[in-house]
Amino acid sequence: MTVNTTVTVRVPAKVNLQLAVGPRREDGFHDLVNVFHAVSLFDEVTVREALSRRPSPSEGTGSAAGPVLAELTAGGSLGSHLSRVPLDASNLAARAVTLLAEGTGRGTPVAVHLDKHIPVAGGMAGGSADAAATLLACDRLWGCGLSEEELVGYAADLGSDVPFALLGDTAVGLGRGEILRPMPSPGRFRWVFALSAQGLSTASVFGEYDRIRPDAPEPRLDRALADALASGDPVALGAALTNDLQEAALSLLPELERTLKTGGGAGALGSLVSGSGPTCAFLVGGGGEAESVVAEREAAVVEALEGSGLCEQVVVADGDVPGAMIV
Ligand code: C5P
Repeated sequence: MTVNTTVTVRVPAKVNLQLAVGPRREDGFHDLVNVFHAVSLFDEVTVREALSRRPSPSEGTGSAAGPVLAELTAGGSLGSHLSRVPLDASNLAARAVTLLAEGTGRGTPVAVHLDKHIPVAGGMAGGSADAAATLLACDRLWGCGLSEEELVGYAADLGSDVPFALLGDTAVGLGRGEILRPMPSPGRFRWVFALSAQGLSTASVFGEYDRIRPDAPEPRLDRALADALASGDPVALGAALTNDLQEAALSLLPELERTLKTGGGAGALGSLVSGSGPTCAFLVGGGGEAESVVAEREAAVVEALEGSGLCEQVVVADGDVPGAMIV
């Protein structure tokens, strides 16, 4: 395949600092108060122009000319997680290519490669991150010149967590999570993540939530969390972490309870299931704390989790970090 143009985008994972979930709506989604926090665990998405599949001018462009996605491949550092990445049209990155080509009429065939380091089906929005990165890369490659607002519009059509991956930093997501309001925080925090050997489907965790919380109240932003973020106090932040989906994730994968207890018992300031899980997140410090204090806590939590035999991999990251960026 002849290649002449390449764009690579680096995009972060997210952890939720608060995930408040309301009752199921008529469209099947749930209203959320979803405090997203971008962390330094990155996928890199490379989009190359696939010249051999370029349509002739008489054929037009985009999906009408034939498959605009010539190839989708994945690699990375994720062990068994990689085998869970779908490499067909169901991948959110593939849907991003098609959606943007249809919406702009500018699409020429591309090959997309996902260099994955964000857990797959892990509650850290890795698939959403790849979709956001693909939108940004195709916009550049095809010369669409879309505004941030237009890109966020395409992102929201792809999924509830996709707009945040474009924006990054810390933000509260309202509606089904796609309506974003930045929540600036002066602190930078250190996180330890325990990756599970299994994945959980977001839809099935929401389904379990409906079963065990048929009386869910309207979601509200937790004042203690907002105050902790504004002050940058890691102890207050650790105490304020909450996730309404945690009980549902633990109901589907009960062993996560032991993972949470292991990290908490080793001195984490706070612990929770990330999003719909099963990745577990442990806050180990930050804000104004001395680096040596944070490093000591981090080492104790990492050692306990690695020694527990409960998780497939343990990784460390900082937050917050900016959203998707061309490299
Ligand atoms: O928006 P996204 O495609 O990521 O959502 C995946 C699934 O998660 C949805 O099909 C739905 O079952 C559930 N979901 C929900 N309410 C939200 C977001 C997601 O019920 N606000």
